[in-house]
Amino acid sequence: MEKTEIGEKKEKRSSFTGKLGFVLAAAGSAVGLGNIWRFPYLAAKYGGGIFLLTYIVLALTFGFALMIGEIAIGRKTGVSAITAFKKISKKFAFIGWLVSIIPMIILPYYSVIGGWVTKYLFAFVTGNGVTAAADGYFESFIGKTGEPILWLCIFIGATVLIVMLGVEKGIERVSKIMMPVLVVLSLFIAVYGMFMDGAVEGVIYYLKPDFSKFSVMTVVSAMGQLFYSMSLAMGIMITYGSYMKKDVSLEKSVHQIEIFDTGVAFLAGLMIIPAVFAFSGGDEAALGKGPGLMFITLPKVFDSMFGGQVIGALFFLLVLFAALTSSVSLTETVVSILQDKLKINRRILCLIVLAGTVIVGIPSSLGYGVWESFTIFGLQILDFFDFISNSVLMPVAALLTCIFIGYVIKPSFVIDEVELNGKFKLKNLFSVMIKYIAPVCLVVILVSSIFDVTGVLKI
Ligand code: TRP
Repeated sequence: MEKTEIGEKKEKRSSFTGKLGFVLAAAGSAVGLGNIWRFPYLAAKYGGGIFLLTYIVLALTFGFALMIGEIAIGRKTGVSAITAFKKISKKFAFIGWLVSIIPMIILPYYSVIGGWVTKYLFAFVTGNGVTAAADGYFESFIGKTGEPILWLCIFIGATVLIVMLGVEKGIERVSKIMMPVLVVLSLFIAVYGMFMDGAVEGVIYYLKPDFSKFSVMTVVSAMGQLFYSMSLAMGIMITYGSYMKKDVSLEKSVHQIEIFDTGVAFLAGLMIIPAVFAFSGGDEAALGKGPGLMFITLPKVFDSMFGGQVIGALFFLLVLFAALTSSVSLTETVVSILQDKLKINRRILCLIVLAGTVIVGIPSSLGYGVWESFTIFGLQILDFFDFISNSVLMPVAALLTCIFIGYVIKPSFVIDEVELNGKFKLKNLFSVMIKYIAPVCLVVILVSSIFDVTGVLKI
C-alpha cells in the first residue's frame, strides 16, 4: 500500500466514500476538546473579541493555505506524513519525523482533559451535577492524586480499546449523529446563557474587538490554537489527504472543514464567556481561569437551568464523543507511526501506547495537585506540554512545511493537485501565504513565544 509512486493512482488504498465522507472524517478529527475546551479559555484570557478576530483572520489566510497544502501533499503522494516527505525529498524526510512526535506529546495531556470530561459526565449522570456547580469543586477535583488519574486511565483505556477492536467506524457513525446534536445543544445553551443577568457584557467582550488588548501574544496563542484545533502542522491532514478521492474538490472541502471547526469553537466561546461574566461580573481573574474555565462555568449554567441536570449530562456525553473521535485519531496516528517503524504486532503496540500515555499523562495530572509547585519556565506540567507542542513544535513544523512547499516542491505541486477538480480560486492567496507571509509570521511567532515563556523579553 505504501509503495505507490508519487501521483500514481492508488487502487489499494481505501478511500472515504461520498463527497462528504472526507469532510466528515477530517472534521471528526479536528473538532474536539480543542474547540470546546481550549478555544473559549484562550479567547477569555486574550481579550475576547480581538482574539476571535485574530483567529478568524489567521484561519482564512494561514490555516487555509497550510491545510490545503497538507491535504494536497497527502492526496498526491498517497502516503502518510513520514513517508510522504521522504518520498518527495530524502533531505526533508526529517520533517516527517518532527511532525510525528507532536501527536505523541498531545495524546497524554489530551487524555487528562478527556478524563475530566468523563468525570463530569459521571457526576451529572449520577445526579451530582449540583455539587459540580459549587465553588471550588473543580479545583478540589483536579488537586486530588488518585481520582483524576483513574479518569485519565478510563478515558485512554476506552480510546485504545476502540482502536484495538477496530470499531472506529462505529464511533464515527455515532458521532455523525452526535456532532449535529452537540451543535444544536450548544446553540441552545449559548442563547440561554446570553439572557442571564450580566451576560450581555460578556457577549460584547467576546464579539467586539478591543484593539488596545492586541499584543504579540494574541497572535501567538491564536496561531497555536489554529494548529491544534484544525490538526495542522502534525502530519494528520497529510494522512487524511492520502485517503481522499481524486474527484472530490479539495478547495471546497478545506472551506467546509474550516467553517465547521471554527463554527463549533465560536459557539463554545459564546456558550462559556457570557456565562463567566454573568457569574463573576466580568472579573479579570475569572476570565483568566485557564484550562478549568469550561468545567467551572458550565455546571453553574446547568444548575441555574430548568432540567439542567439532564442537559448537563447530555452535554458532557456529547463532548466526550467529540473528544473520543479526536483521541482515537491521535492514537491511531501514533500506533501507525510506530507500526511502520518497529514492525511490531498492532495489538501489542496499542498496549504500549496505552502504557506510555498513562505514564506521561500522570505527571500532567499531578501538576494540579501534589506536584503543583513543580513548574517548568513557570508553567504547570500540562501547560508545558501544551506549550511545547502548540507554541514551539507546531510553528517549527509549519515553518518547515511552508518552506518545503514554497521552495522545494514549489506551490505548483499543490496547485496542480487542487486543479484536478477545476479552478483553484484562491491560488494567489495560497502562493503568497506559503512563500512569504506565513514563513515570516512564523519566525516572529516562534521567537516571541520562546522569549515570552523564558522571560527574556516580557511582551
Ligand atoms: N484537533 C483536535 C481538537 O480540536 C485535537 C487534535 C490535535 C487532534 N491534533 C490531533 C485530533 C490529531 C486528532 C488528530 O480537539
